[in-house]
Amino acid sequence: MRTQVAIIGAGPSGLLLGQLLTRAGIDNVIVERHTPAYVLGRIRAGVLEQGAVAMLDEAGAGARLHAEGLVHGGIEIAWGGRRHRVDLSALTGGHHVVVYGQTEVTKDLMEARRASGARSVYEAEDASVHGFDGDRPTVRYRHAGTTHELECDYIAGCDGFHGVCRQSVPASAIRNFERVYPFGWLGLLSDTPPVADELIYVLHERGFALCSMRSRTRSRYYLQCSLAEHVEQWPDERFWTELKARLDPATAAGLVTGASLEKSIAPLRSFVAEPLRFGRLFLAGDAGHIVPPTGAKGLNLAASDVRYLFDGLVEHYRHGRSGGLDAYSERALRRIWKAERFSWWMTMLLHRFPDHGPFGERIQQAELDYLFSSKAAQAALAENYVGLPY
Ligand code: APR
Ligand code: PHB
Repeated sequence: MRTQVAIIGAGPSGLLLGQLLTRAGIDNVIVERHTPAYVLGRIRAGVLEQGAVAMLDEAGAGARLHAEGLVHGGIEIAWGGRRHRVDLSALTGGHHVVVYGQTEVTKDLMEARRASGARSVYEAEDASVHGFDGDRPTVRYRHAGTTHELECDYIAGCDGFHGVCRQSVPASAIRNFERVYPFGWLGLLSDTPPVADELIYVLHERGFALCSMRSRTRSRYYLQCSLAEHVEQWPDERFWTELKARLDPATAAGLVTGASLEKSIAPLRSFVAEPLRFGRLFLAGDAGHIVPPTGAKGLNLAASDVRYLFDGLVEHYRHGRSGGLDAYSERALRRIWKAERFSWWMTMLLHRFPDHGPFGERIQQAELDYLFSSKAAQAALAENYVGLPY
């Protein structure tokens, strides 16, 4: 089999890139390890920057998002028994974010791909990438017991943090930057109305909490937890009791609880690989970087990587110029590092750090106090939260 661009991974990065390429007349094949149902079963983030929304529109996958997504012009930060609103729109000249689950984004992109007739191979085992340092790269995988080889011009490594693409690059050609945080997030999804109209990020003595949502009838809540804990130790009742303990009394009183649809613990990590291009192999999305979820940037960075990579590929195939592809790694990394900085800062601002000590706690309190007393500080948060320009 032969194609122009072989895409490894059918997460948001791979599906978005594939859809844009198909619409631009550039042939591509997606090779994914799991089934579509498995990919859709992973509950992840839910906040989209306007740039990401525009790309989903460009990919022909934005209709349901516009009908069902919730436009948010602000977020709240609860601290010291009070809720403080950060007016994202007023502070950014009218920008906003859209709350719409990554699962729904993925579903819409899968549907658009199915309708386009572009080729996808799900349940591809043992995918491996070869020859990307030369002119004729290939992807090998097994499917239904048979080994296949896919010849291509370029390979897009959209296979997430644990994927095969980054791991196929010689160690001497890549540099990794990493920070692992000493806690995780315990998430719970429930068919209950959200406790507030906007997201509430909470810092409490007992730890961080986040009140988020997927729709007007479905909520997503998170609690900072120890990495030694297991979900089995968190029956729903205990989760709700702990969440209420971290909310101010008025908000806690308004919380509607219910049975969980999903519950999981995720570690928090910052990670960047440099560079993101190795000959004819490009890394995009979680394959190249991870942010802690506090800044809601994971999915949005996947979209901006795809923006730069797609533009580079179009320039190459339409005009025979390599400038965009040559600049991909540098352009993507400049935006990635700013989102890494913001996500790290939000994480430092809003969590209890076991090793911070009294000095660290006072600095954190001063940072929050400064934020709520300074329009300039709030504007810096707001412009990063709604998303820096591409
Ligand atoms: N072969 C084929 N497919 C693979 C392989 C492999 N060896 N390894 C991983 N994959 C697939 C995974 O099964 C997954 O479906 O690649 C896909 C990667 O998807 P994501 O992990 O969702 O990564 P990405 O598309 O970059 O999306 C980034 O997802 O993790 C969140 O916070 C992150 O929101 C961000 C978004
Ligand atoms: C979510 O709804 O899952 C969510 C929202 C905002 C974040 C992180 C996760 O910062």
